[in-house]
Amino acid sequence: MTITKLFLIFSVTLWLAYVPCVKGRQTRNSDYHGKLSSLHLTLATEEFNNEVQFPRFAEPIPNVTVTIGRDALLPCVVDNLRNYKVAWVRVDTQTILSIHHNVITQNSRISLSYNDHRSWYLQIKNVQEVDRGWYMCQVNTDPMRSRQGYLQVVVPPSIVDKETSTDMVVREASNVTLNCKAVGYPEPYVMWRREDGEDINYNGETVNVVDGEVLHIVKISRLHMGAYLCIASNGVPPSISKRIVLRVQFPPMLSIPNQLEGAYIGQDVTLECLTEAYPTSINYWTTERGDMIVSGDKHEAVSSDSGYNKYMMLKIRNVNPKDFGSYKCVAKNSLGETDGVIKLDEIPAPSTTTTQVSPHVTSSIKKNGRNGNKNSRQRPIDYAVEEWRESDSDGDYTLVSMRTPQDPSDGSGEPASLRVQGIWTVLLLFLTLALLFVVRR
Ligand SMILES: *[C@@H]1O[C@H](CO)[C@@H](O)[C@H](O)[C@H]1NC(C)=O
Ligand SMILES: *[C@@H]1O[C@H](CO)[C@@H](O)[C@H](O)[C@H]1NC(C)=O
Repeated sequence: MTITKLFLIFSVTLWLAYVPCVKGRQTRNSDYHGKLSSLHLTLATEEFNNEVQFPRFAEPIPNVTVTIGRDALLPCVVDNLRNYKVAWVRVDTQTILSIHHNVITQNSRISLSYNDHRSWYLQIKNVQEVDRGWYMCQVNTDPMRSRQGYLQVVVPPSIVDKETSTDMVVREASNVTLNCKAVGYPEPYVMWRREDGEDINYNGETVNVVDGEVLHIVKISRLHMGAYLCIASNGVPPSISKRIVLRVQFPPMLSIPNQLEGAYIGQDVTLECLTEAYPTSINYWTTERGDMIVSGDKHEAVSSDSGYNKYMMLKIRNVNPKDFGSYKCVAKNSLGETDGVIKLDEIPAPSTTTTQVSPHVTSSIKKNGRNGNKNSRQRPIDYAVEEWRESDSDGDYTLVSMRTPQDPSDGSGEPASLRVQGIWTVLLLFLTLALLFVVRR
């Protein structure tokens, strides 16, 4: 009996292996079902009469999701199998994977495990994307009974280096396109952001994240300089990112907080200059005549960098008359050169009582140096006060002089003399009138 079975299975397999070469897949499938039917007809005999005795699927075939590279296990549980046979079939390729205890497929990653003539497990090792699809568990009853389950193969995202941008160096104001190509299953979602988490000025909008595989920056500025991350995710861990450094080149630019500095003899003074440049510039100080200033006992040139910004400082110790004049800070890179002039003027030393120069005094003197010194500021106030007093006394004087003629009429200090004066006035008036009258006549 077992020899007959084996022979039959062997012949079916051989036959099925040859048919696809001659006929189409569809034909092979129907022929396969036909063959299985004849198989069961031959093998199963008297039990057909009792419907209850037919094989029955105890549970559906589950849909299984597996990450690429892992192993998958598809169970098929059949009650009352009796002498019937279970076969696993790959639906979309119409391939028989196993019949009863035998693995038919050539695929070495596929194996079969079974126990108690009830559970039949199809095992797929190191699952690949080609394994994605429907798998059918068949029982060779007539008509054939089957159930199918879907094997989902998911692939974590990965970045295709060949189609993805690498670190870039561009000129300011040019248009820049960064690409990031990611693959995976399901299709990954790709986005761009700055590594430092800062917002991106993206063609007029301020955004934190740019969706999509392409980051296209029109008229790039130095503010765009930095490291960018292209992040791809599809829900299958781990997500992946690629770091791309974007460098923006521009010639040096310079700004001077104070173009005019004041110092008195014997003071220490500091000149400051701020520059921006990429590639990093070479910065130095020169005298009025263009001689480079080197650090020493007299001068101390210090600079500190922060990104493309540079802060330059020149400290001049114990200022003497020769130190007054112009100083130049210079910044140079491969794209250009720029310089700025700072003028150091003499200011009067603070009063001798303040022999110890504290930083506060120094700074106030510096300010005065720029706006005119302490003394000249106080003087105008004195003048103003004097002038105001002068004009005031003038006013008093005029008022007094205007009031003078009225004083006697108002005054009632000596009434007797006033009355005498009045009489005389009346007499004089009378005489004048009389004279005029006589002359007319
Ligand atoms: C498997 O998925 C199909 C369709 O996606 C669905 O019809 C079927 O019910 C699922 N099977 C199970 C066991 O969940
Ligand atoms: C950059 O792109 C803008 C808008 O697309 C275009 O007007 C401009 O000419 C481009 N500039 C360069 C240097 O290609």
